[in-house]
Amino acid sequence: MIQPGTLFEDRYEVVRHVGAGSFATVYEVRHVGLQSRHALKVLDDRLAEREDLRNRFLSEGRIQAQVRHPGIVAVTDTVTSPRPGLVMEYVEGTTLEHHLAEAGVARTPDEVVALMSPILDGVGAAHEAGVVHRDLKPQNILIAVGPGGRLRPQVADFGIAKVLDDAAVLTGKNRTETGVAMGTLLYMSPEQIRGDRDLDLRSDIFSLGAILYEVVTGRVAFDSASQYEAMKRIVDGNYEPPERFVGALDPAFADCIRMALAVNPDERFQSCEAFRSALEGIGDPRATRPHRPLASAATTMAPPTPPRPISTAEQEAATRVYQEPHTAKPRPPGPPPRRKKPGTAVALEMVPGLFGFFGIGHMYNGRIVLGLLVMVSYWILQFFNILLLFVGIGFLTLPLTLLVYMVLSAWKASVDADEANLLAEAAATGSGDTRSG
Ligand SMILES: Nc1ncnc2c1ncn2[C@@H]1O[C@H](COP(=O)(O)OP(=O)(O)O)[C@@H](O)[C@H]1O
Ligand SMILES: [Mg+2]
Repeated sequence: MIQPGTLFEDRYEVVRHVGAGSFATVYEVRHVGLQSRHALKVLDDRLAEREDLRNRFLSEGRIQAQVRHPGIVAVTDTVTSPRPGLVMEYVEGTTLEHHLAEAGVARTPDEVVALMSPILDGVGAAHEAGVVHRDLKPQNILIAVGPGGRLRPQVADFGIAKVLDDAAVLTGKNRTETGVAMGTLLYMSPEQIRGDRDLDLRSDIFSLGAILYEVVTGRVAFDSASQYEAMKRIVDGNYEPPERFVGALDPAFADCIRMALAVNPDERFQSCEAFRSALEGIGDPRATRPHRPLASAATTMAPPTPPRPISTAEQEAATRVYQEPHTAKPRPPGPPPRRKKPGTAVALEMVPGLFGFFGIGHMYNGRIVLGLLVMVSYWILQFFNILLLFVGIGFLTLPLTLLVYMVLSAWKASVDADEANLLAEAAATGSGDTRSG
């Protein structure tokens, strides 16, 4: 650890140690001439001793310095001696990880948007400049507390993870093989886990989806007992539905999470702008939806509202996909549809079953044709009844059965009458014969 008072290039004096990550240590420093406060990120020894990585680290810093945005922790300078380091603006506050642990989850759409929009804006600005973060996680979101207690989230460590990816490539392995801290692994995209070399901005969208999950539920989406389990769950897209933890979660939030966490990058939001518009559409007071808390004792859900229209074709495409889960399952207001009771259907099906017995009974009585016809009618009736149950009008099985029963009864009555006539005739003929004989 570097001691307080140590000078970096005669310009920055170390004030105190702030924290350490997996490959670098952060110090609070003071600019000697300006007396301004900064954060200095110093590359760990084992990486700094390699010239290629040292240069990569500093050149990433120079790229980051080009991206200036209120949602991004600005890199303002680089130092090389006595160690390579990046000078950043100092963020007085906390990290998103600590904020969620202390203040709890976001409870209203407005709170979600207040936390997520600046993050999405910042990451989006970097994407437009061609910089992919690769290591978005709650520890890398710093939250400054502005005037009036207003929270100001800022994203730190842009592009730094690329240096580690490159370090892994140089050793012929991917980053998950060379060892990644669990805190980093849990927010990696499936393609990152698989070791894809050319990650695009959609990998960041996935990590932002995992962050949104945590902001809304207070739980880590892919929380696992081991690194192997975490990697497996991420590539399989296996996470507990957020509704399980937030009883009255607005379905539109759940849809945003699901879309951002899609295993296939093509199915995710295709830009931070599309992601942000979808979220802001939920919290938009101009939308006609009732303003409701995320987590309340209420068990009913408001019907989902489509997000605000977005301008570019790409964003429209993303929104269309976003709307799909809504249109696929429209939830009409009012009481939920009654579930079909299979017991009733089975009971109804037993009525035509009786015809089968009648048929057998008729055959036993020696009326083969009648018996066969009753049985065939029974099978035809069963076929129609099953059809009616399938198309959801099972209640018609009883009238249909009664109708068939009545037709068959009438027919049987006429056959009975014919038979009685024949018997009477035969009896008459028989007695005549006796009389004549
Ligand atoms: N610009 C900054 N201003 C204030 N604190 C910072 C700044 N950058 C990083 N930190 C703090 O230093 C800690 C270590 O940062 P880092 O090395 O990026 O580790 P990690 O992000 O893996 O936790 C962070 O948790 C954060 O609290
Ligand atoms: Mg960090």
